[in-house]
Amino acid sequence: MATAEDIRTVLVVDFGAQYAQLIARRVRECRVYSEIVPHDITLEELRAKKPAALILSGGPASVYAEGAPKMDPRIYELGIPILGLCYGMQLMAIDLGGAVPKTDIGEYGFAQLTVADGGSALFEDLPAGQQVWMSHRDSVGTVPAGFAVLASTPTTAIAAMADADRRLWATQFHPEVAHTPHGLDMLKHFLYDIADIPPTWTMVNIIDETVEAVRAQVGDAKVICGLSGGVDSSVVAALLHRAIGEKLTCVFVDHGMLRLDEADDVVRVFRDQFHVELVHVQAQERYLSLLVGVTDPEVKRRIIGEEFWKVFFEEAERLEGVRFLAQGTLYPDVIESGSKTAAKIKSHHNLIPFPEGVHFELIEPLRRLFKDEVRAVGAELGLPDHIVHRQPFPGPGLAVRIIGEITAERLDILRRADAIVREEIGRWDEHREVWQYFAVLPAIRSVGVMGDERTYAHPIIIRAVSSADAMTADWARLPHELLAHMSNRIINEVEGVNRVAYDITSKPPGTIEWE
Ligand code: XMP
Repeated sequence: MATAEDIRTVLVVDFGAQYAQLIARRVRECRVYSEIVPHDITLEELRAKKPAALILSGGPASVYAEGAPKMDPRIYELGIPILGLCYGMQLMAIDLGGAVPKTDIGEYGFAQLTVADGGSALFEDLPAGQQVWMSHRDSVGTVPAGFAVLASTPTTAIAAMADADRRLWATQFHPEVAHTPHGLDMLKHFLYDIADIPPTWTMVNIIDETVEAVRAQVGDAKVICGLSGGVDSSVVAALLHRAIGEKLTCVFVDHGMLRLDEADDVVRVFRDQFHVELVHVQAQERYLSLLVGVTDPEVKRRIIGEEFWKVFFEEAERLEGVRFLAQGTLYPDVIESGSKTAAKIKSHHNLIPFPEGVHFELIEPLRRLFKDEVRAVGAELGLPDHIVHRQPFPGPGLAVRIIGEITAERLDILRRADAIVREEIGRWDEHREVWQYFAVLPAIRSVGVMGDERTYAHPIIIRAVSSADAMTADWARLPHELLAHMSNRIINEVEGVNRVAYDITSKPPGTIEWE
């Protein structure tokens, strides 16, 4: 088994591309650890990280544009294997004495690549003719001395180049995107064969390494962790529990805006299954009284957020000898493309409102992981599937799904309707394709008739969307029978509801949540 010292890192040098994160994720899919660094990293900083290889990302700029991102050219002399992609290839060409003429003939989208006779390590065993994805304006016109041309497309004569002796490789196309079907094979050739890095980075390694690091950081001190039942805080809790056992106390603030049975479930999993030291704060009444008469969504969010920290720190102060506060910061929160300044701005977003005189050191065991890796770690640690694959759920919980005033009665209606929506869609074979599904309670009532009686009651809105990252979304095409069944059940089982509507708005122009 690999130990922390054996972990070999591939650094993705970020030239401002939307692709840098994707490159790092792809490398990790090849079971090689990868991190993103800004292009203005100094030679010394880079050396200190002891990278096993570098990948220069693409970027939106032209290499000739004013202020175009550069890298210290002495980095090429370090003898580290380098793969330049798109902008990274052009920069490598210019830095090492080649040329990138201004042609104004760009190439965007699919292209047919022809690998030069004889092939090369990068294309070994791959078809001589294959599809690749291009997205560039400039391209390399003359390769630097010592380089060979490896492949071309009808528009781009030099689509890949290498100086195999110096282990410098580059492609004009993007091997990291799914539109380049053999792209992952090329990355594997670069990592395993050219850079000689074994695929040893696994979820088990991550856990072992993190456990080791946490133990070293914490020593005999105590750690407090806010648990919400969400994926990130659950994985943090499970991981820390594995590392330090009883020295961890989790504080679960139940603000009363959780879904049906959710609070019981958190307690069952963490107290009964994992035997975590768990403080379950029943703050439901406290929140409801603060929210009386509040209808503005921003005010609701602010009250709930501020109160969370108040309750949390009240509990923290009750516990003695706590030195660390654990947080589920993920890698995408840590990195920000481009420059070091951007990275600093980002890290300030995570300020915790410590009360006067209170301070904890932060411990962030997930800060190197992407979301899908966090889920894999959670599964490996034995967290139940419904937590590991939980849908995004806003911190203020059902408060953002109740339009208008939050009362115990309205929460109860929404909670019961939502449970039916989740149960029924969850039974549907294709529910994993749906990004999020839930119920919303709007601030209106309408007339209906049930039995012989006229009703004047609440509608429930069902929201179900497909999405890749929540930035854009489309309403899910649920089967009509499923919609009909949910509507029947909600009206029959949830008193106070006489109508069900399905939201058929995409994002944009709508958002996923209603507020
Ligand atoms: P919208 O409604 O803006 O939501 O399309 C995009 C995604 O973000 C989730 N969301 C939140 N997540 N705290 C969170 O952790 C919040 O306050 C919050 N508000 C919205 C939402 O569920 C969707 O997945």
